[in-house]
Amino acid sequence: MVAGMNEPMLPKAEGVGYHDFLSALHEEILFDWYLEIGSRKGDSFAPVRSKTIAVDPYFRLRGNVMNAKRMLLLCQMTSDEFFEEDILKSLSARLSFSFLDGMHLFEYLLRDFMNAEANSHPDGVIVLHDCCPYTPEMTTRDLDNLPKGDWTGDVWKMLPILRTHRPDLRIEVLDAAPTGLVVVSGLNPKNRVLKKKYDQIVEEFTPLTLADYGVARFAGEVEFQSTAAVMAQGFPVFRPVAQDPASLTQPRRLST
Ligand SMILES: C[S@@+](CC[C@H](N)C(=O)[O-])C[C@H]1O[C@@H](n2cnc3c(N)ncnc32)[C@H](O)[C@@H]1O
Repeated sequence: MVAGMNEPMLPKAEGVGYHDFLSALHEEILFDWYLEIGSRKGDSFAPVRSKTIAVDPYFRLRGNVMNAKRMLLLCQMTSDEFFEEDILKSLSARLSFSFLDGMHLFEYLLRDFMNAEANSHPDGVIVLHDCCPYTPEMTTRDLDNLPKGDWTGDVWKMLPILRTHRPDLRIEVLDAAPTGLVVVSGLNPKNRVLKKKYDQIVEEFTPLTLADYGVARFAGEVEFQSTAAVMAQGFPVFRPVAQDPASLTQPRRLST
């Protein structure tokens, strides 16, 4: 837990680092199509073995990002442009796993989520990064004054938004260091609730700060699940959409 004197505390994600968690996931499970929004250097998609689409308006790739992939499509554009161009349709690609790590303002991530879900397999999984800030300062929307170190922006708002407006989704919050991973499954590509309520949600949530929402309230709503346990169990939530379920190893038993 992180706190100043007499300030409410935010839980800090101190489990397995998110790059290590994602690498282990891709080593264990082969998906059909993997989509990544926000890639920068390519570190989070380099270990992927599945057919990959990476979207970033400003790539700074380094190293061997191709590795063992059969296919890699790099789209140097914003995620809104990517979805508008309907590139997924032209590839007949239904998404098995999407990792959303682009612009850290909640309305961008909300659109990325809506668009990714609409193009997903119903057994697919969408993972949101940076929804668990560990200080209020890192939640700023002021792009001209970003904090040094981790900046989550206000994508923490996705947790209350999804829980309120999409109670049908299954949401798990993993303690992946440093700012958590939100794993969303039970997808319904035909669901239009968020699209219909988008303007209302943006109007309500844009002016809201973490202090307005309540730091203690948010902290109470984040119940971390252990990344180490999910890894030891063989990433159960991702298994239904594995490309070749027969190739999956048996989950390892937890020793504790
Ligand atoms: C935190 S970095 C991604 C880090 C990477 N996923 C990793 O784990 O190594 C965020 C990236 O989002 C990109 N980005 C910013 N606005 C975007 C947008 N509208 N659509 C897609 N990507 C965006 C930035 O260019 C930046 O490279």
